[in-house]
Formats: sequence, structure tokens, C-alpha cells
Amino acid sequence: MKHFKETSGNKRYHTLDYFYKQTFGSKVFKVSLNAGFSCPNLDGTKGRGGCIYCSKDGSGDYAGNPCIPIKQQFNEVLKIMKNKWDSNKYIAYFQARTNTYAPLSVLKEKYEAVLSLPNVIGLSIATRPDAITDECLDYLEELNKRTYLTIELGLQTIHEETSLLINRCHTLECFSDMVQKLRERHISVVVHIINGLPFETKEMMLETVEYLNHMDIQGIKIHMLHMLKDTKLYELYQTTPFHILTKEEYVDIVCDQLERLRPSIVIHRITGDPKEDDLIEPVWLTKKFGVLNAIDKELKRRDTYQSFNKTIFNKTHQIIDHQVKRKDLVVDATIGNGYDSLYLLDKIPEGTLFGFDIQKQALTNTTSLLKKNKKKNFQLFLKNHNEMFSTLESYKEKISLVIFNLGYLPNGNKEITTTPKTTIEAMDQAYQLLNKKGIILLTIYPGHKEGKKEELTILNKLEHAYKGKYKIYHNTNNPDAPYLIEIRKNNFIN
Ligand SMILES: C[S@@+](CC[C@H](N)C(=O)[O-])C[C@H]1O[C@@H](n2cnc3c(N)ncnc32)[C@H](O)[C@@H]1O
Repeated sequence: MKHFKETSGNKRYHTLDYFYKQTFGSKVFKVSLNAGFSCPNLDGTKGRGGCIYCSKDGSGDYAGNPCIPIKQQFNEVLKIMKNKWDSNKYIAYFQARTNTYAPLSVLKEKYEAVLSLPNVIGLSIATRPDAITDECLDYLEELNKRTYLTIELGLQTIHEETSLLINRCHTLECFSDMVQKLRERHISVVVHIINGLPFETKEMMLETVEYLNHMDIQGIKIHMLHMLKDTKLYELYQTTPFHILTKEEYVDIVCDQLERLRPSIVIHRITGDPKEDDLIEPVWLTKKFGVLNAIDKELKRRDTYQSFNKTIFNKTHQIIDHQVKRKDLVVDATIGNGYDSLYLLDKIPEGTLFGFDIQKQALTNTTSLLKKNKKKNFQLFLKNHNEMFSTLESYKEKISLVIFNLGYLPNGNKEITTTPKTTIEAMDQAYQLLNKKGIILLTIYPGHKEGKKEELTILNKLEHAYKGKYKIYHNTNNPDAPYLIEIRKNNFIN
């Protein structure tokens, strides 16, 4: 799957619009409906009072009028929307309340009615994970073979304490079980989450996304919590005030969440648009395009995109892209199979790359890769990188970047790895070779025994000899995952 660095409309994430165009060859319009269903969290089946933030229209404020037949409602919503959107492919979106919460015969009648309308290519059904019966699942499985079906499941948060507070009345386990049941039937699943729920920290919101990123889901809808008039949420706020995210905080959290999501997950929404009259907080939410633009701008400023955090190499490449200029002299201290060298050579058509490795195999592989890619401006040395300074002394203070990708040669002999002592020696020598703005990049692999030892030696050295000159970048919380260290000749300004 490609990176979403700049797809349609300069979005750095997998937009629904992009997904529809890829899947159906043109724009698709979602027609929001209110089929007049209830909710098991209102009538006492699962709970009473509903989720504390839910509006009186059951989160379907822009959906149609439930008092008129569904086909007529569809056509009325379409008529209004046709002025704004030009498309002749429609997905009927059962939005308000719990759209699988009725006897199967009623569900069938409503779904089939809209499906029989011209140009309706699919159904999106918003519901709760505890509100799809086995009988309904069988019907959805069959429906999924006939039309483009998506089930949108409300989760809101993975944190049970918040879930209790907002009166969701279902567990995380219930949610994951339903995702599994739907996926066993090959039905696409979109999950709704809310940022800014009472007393949740940024870390908790990121944890929700990280959890979902590991699930077999196809899309996500990210909302900012709306605090509306006449809701239990507003009552709670008045008695026990909690922090309402600022626009800047929300944008920062959404960008962090996008960086964590795998590229195939379609982003159905990253902000809501509540009715202004009912909204108490946050007021900035009424300027929907302001929020969307701020997210685009922030991703651009960070130079990141959806799934950026998938591998630490994205960070490595980002730093290289910013650092290296056409005529630069650079060093690859561990050429291995040559992929880092190739990436660097693409950046320096008029410069030179010097490469080191102690294995003949590495020189053979790298030479072959670079030649295949028509690269000429490189010199490779079959030498230990602790001979870097003596080899390149004439380039002292002229090198703009030295890269170390530690550990063993992928697909090679795992016994031959970089060692703490020689790595530290080479690091110090690399530092001598750097020009004023030069940097060293080291990818550390703490996940194997030798790598762990090497990590500790390097961290100790950095603390003693490079204070203020280095930064550490992690892309995950997994302590075994590789990570990146950047050392700068100039101190980091903090
Ligand atoms: C993880 S691999 C490098 C991957 C490589 N950069 C790439 O893009 O394919 C590490 C390499 O470092 C080499 N190496 C280990 N100790 C070394 C040393 N003291 N001096 C130079 N190279 C060394 C290994 O032979 C191995 O090929």
C-alpha cells in the first residue's frame, strides 16, 4: 500500500473520498437517514438514558425525517444534498441511533427499500456492537454478497472506566467479538471513536487508536466530543468540570493518531459538525473546515502522514530528506545490502557516498544494487568502520551525514554483528568527520542479545560525551523495537 503523503486534495491520510474513487471509479455520496429505530441503551434492554453525550436525535442530526417513509426520506435528503454534491452513486447511510435494533423483518423492509432505489450502490449501517443478533448477522452476510455493505460500530474508547462513565453499557470484549463475527463474514467494519472524553489523557486516546490499528477493521471515524445542551454530559460538566480539548490539542492528537494507523484503514471522518444551536463546547468545532485545514497544515509541518510510525525508517528518511543536499558527502558505516546507501545516493546526484562493511557479501550485494540503479558516485571499503577516520581523513569536517544501521546483515550470517566497542569508536570518528551542520544517525536493535548490550553502551556514551547533542526517536512503545538516535555536531536547541 502506498504512502498517503499527498493524495487527493493534499490530504496526507486515506480519505473516504479517495477510497470511494479507487473502489467505484467516481465520487460516491452518503445519504444520511433516520429510520426511526430506538437504542437498547435507551429502553432498558442494555441500559437507560443512553450514552451521556448523545443528542436527542440519537447522533443523527443531519439525517432525514423519521416520520416519513424511508424511500421518500432518502429522496428528500438527496435533493438537498444534490445542490452541494454532484454524484450519481449513493450509499444509504442508516445513521441515527441503533440501526440493527429492530425485528429482522423491519430491518429487511427498510434496507431493501433503499437498496431498490436507482443508483444506490451500498449500505452503511451504524450500530452498537451489542445490538446485532445472530439471525441479523446471517442476513447481513447474505446482503454483503449483493451490495457494498459497511457496518459502523460505536466503540468511542477502549478504556472501561471511561466507558462506564459515559454509560456505553457494553464491554471492549463485546466489541472485539462483534468485529470478529463481522469479519468472519467478510463484512467491512468502520469503528467510531471520540477524542476528548471526560478525564481521558492524550495517552489514553492514542492507546485506543493503537488497539484498533491491530484489529481487522477497514475504517475509522474520529470525533471530537460534542457537549450539547440537555445532555447528561453537560450536567456532569457543570458538577465536575473536566478539560475540554483546545483546537490545537485536538489537532495534535489526531495527527498522532493518523501517524499510528496503518495506511489501509480508511479515515471516514476526523471532525464532527454539530448543530450550532445545541453546542455548548467546544465552540471551535463549528468551523469544520478550519479544523480539517489545521490537521492538513500540521501534518505538512511535521512532514508526516498516515502510518508514518509504522517503521522507524520513515523517520530516518524524513531526517535524511531534510539534511542531505545534492552535492553532499555522506558515509554509510554499515552498508549491508545497500538499501540505505541507495536512498542516500538518490539525494546526492552530485555528491559522493563512502561505504564500509566487514563482510565481502555486503560489498557484493551493495555494489550490485547500486549498479542496477545506475549509481556511480560511491566508494565502498571492505573495512571495519572503526577505520573510518584514517580512511577519510582528507574529508575531515566535510561530511554532512554518517548513517549506522547496527546489527547483522539481513539474510546473512547472524553471528556477524556490530559490536559495542567498535561502534563507539566509529561513532567518535564519525563525529570528527562531520561538518558544522553534520549529523550521525544510528538505528539500534535492542530486540536481540547483542543489540541490547550495544544499546546500553551507546546510551551510556551519549550521556557522558554527547549531552545536548542527541535525540532519540521511538515509533512504538515496544521496548524491543528498533529505534533511531540522531547526533548533531551543533547542539539541539530546546
Ligand atoms: C543491519 S546491517 C546494515 C543494513 C544496511 N544498511 C542496508 O540498508 O541493507 C549491518 C551491517 O553492518 C556490518 N558490520 C558489522 N560490524 C561492522 C563493523 N565493525 N564495521 C563495518 N560494518 C560492520 C554487517 O556486516 C552488516 O552487513
